[in-house]
Amino acid sequence: MSRRTEKPFWDPDELQAHLQTHTLGRELIVFNRITSTNDFLKRLARRGAKEGATILADEQSAGRGRLGRKWQSPAGKGLWFSFLLRPQLPLDKIGVLSLAIAALIAETLTQQCGKDFRVKWPNDVLLGGKKVCGILCETQMSPTNVEAVIAGVGINVLQTEDDLAVEWRGRATSLFAAGCANLDRKNIFAALLAAFEKNLMGEISPRLPRLVAQWCARCEGLGEPITVLPANMSGLQSESTSGIFESLGEGGELIVRLPSGGLRFFSAGEITIARNMT
Ligand code: BTN
Repeated sequence: MSRRTEKPFWDPDELQAHLQTHTLGRELIVFNRITSTNDFLKRLARRGAKEGATILADEQSAGRGRLGRKWQSPAGKGLWFSFLLRPQLPLDKIGVLSLAIAALIAETLTQQCGKDFRVKWPNDVLLGGKKVCGILCETQMSPTNVEAVIAGVGINVLQTEDDLAVEWRGRATSLFAAGCANLDRKNIFAALLAAFEKNLMGEISPRLPRLVAQWCARCEGLGEPITVLPANMSGLQSESTSGIFESLGEGGELIVRLPSGGLRFFSAGEITIARNMT
């Protein structure tokens, strides 16, 4: 099913004709402008929307990033969308989903654009060391189960360096600014949905080890000295931890080997890779 909002920036029917999926994106709502595709899809999920429902917007007025940050989502410049998963996974494994999404985005963009996209814990996608895409996965729970995961994806596609927010200059880029070819947003969107449907829908547990291996193959900083700023519900904490990025836990946690030889697990936060520090 496709629904039309007033004069959509992409005709949903035309867009659907482009898709190669059976379920993902077949319930598709396209907005010219919305507060946040994640917020809209969250409301639909609470009302029982099916796995695969997708919201796409040309512009977000209140796009949200991880750790309570704003996500700049200007009109005509990016891919801002959210899709609904209803995975049969326990809550302690849900963290792996956003790693899997990052790995699938990095692989799809590598195929589409012919450049080597990388990932950075927890779920950034990088090109040339700069962030080009972020992922915000939000979980809805029943008392005992994960009911829904709202997976939000923001990809900077057509911004020039000057278009990027001042606080991100030097650390973020867009596909265009990084010199990618083939910047048809419709094609990129269709290729991403195809990869998500193939790998994330239905019985996902048996596929998780392969998806984590794909993430590790593209990961920046694995086995290297890093510094972690952990986060809790109120945001980034001030006390950092340094050590070696040893591996990932079963729920996608960052495992750091401390100078003392012990291991510490982090489930949220941000890392800096020592070789990138100047
Ligand atoms: C991050 O790296 O901090 C995550 C950014 C996620 C942005 C996307 S854009 C579509 C969806 N809607 C939102 O409000 N956020 C996500």
